[in-house]
Amino acid sequence: MAAPIGGDLSGYDLVVESLIPGYASLARLGVALLAASPLAGRAGAQVLVAGCGTGAELVEALAQRPDWQLSAVDPSAAMLSAAQQRLGTAAAGLNWRQSTVEELDAEAGFDGALSVLVLQTLPDDGSKLAFLSALARCLRPGGQVVLVDLMRPALPLLEEQMAEAWLGFQRASELQAPRELLEPLTHGSHPVGLARLTALVNAAGFTDPARVFQALDYEGFLLQRSS
Ligand SMILES: C[S@@+](CC[C@H](N)C(=O)[O-])C[C@H]1O[C@@H](n2cnc3c(N)ncnc32)[C@H](O)[C@@H]1O
Repeated sequence: MAAPIGGDLSGYDLVVESLIPGYASLARLGVALLAASPLAGRAGAQVLVAGCGTGAELVEALAQRPDWQLSAVDPSAAMLSAAQQRLGTAAAGLNWRQSTVEELDAEAGFDGALSVLVLQTLPDDGSKLAFLSALARCLRPGGQVVLVDLMRPALPLLEEQMAEAWLGFQRASELQAPRELLEPLTHGSHPVGLARLTALVNAAGFTDPARVFQALDYEGFLLQRSS
């Protein structure tokens, strides 16, 4: 039975697992990948969680890499507050910042970053490039980002099938949620294809995106700051 969904942020946590294929593994995979990177793999590395939302990646980072110095950034006060509640006493050891990544100090010098389901929320009108450029600027050269996002299918032929499969996934997960909770998550996204993502990350100062996993249209990539 699907759990009842409320209109608050606890509703967000319940709904994403039924809405997003592989959501329960995204944070775990993302942290494991970053922890294996040359810079963020070092003890005590400084790691940015960009768009931390309700804290899924933070929980996983604390579990896998308690030595990391974590910075949690999100412009939404409600999201940050939900993440802080979720972490409980562990929240005190993190740097919290209510802001966009674009507003961060360019000299931050992070060894690595996680960006899970954030880029897809930004329109491709300069906003995606501004976000990615800011991510690149606040990383040390060679620093990596694990970027997870909703993508546009590679072949137009697949678009309908992927959309139908996504609905099938939601039905099978017994997703029950009010429209006002689902609509921002399903209609408020701006997916791009791989060619456009590659152009954007290159323009921002990253190497080509290397795909590391995929579940339907949700894909994970490793990006590395070029120099
Ligand atoms: C769909 S939620 C994903 C949250 C979390 N990463 C997860 O996977 O559950 C997107 C989050 O990105 C945040 N966000 C949107 N634009 C941002 C920006 N420019 N910089 C940092 N965070 C941003 C939103 O406030 C929201 O909390």
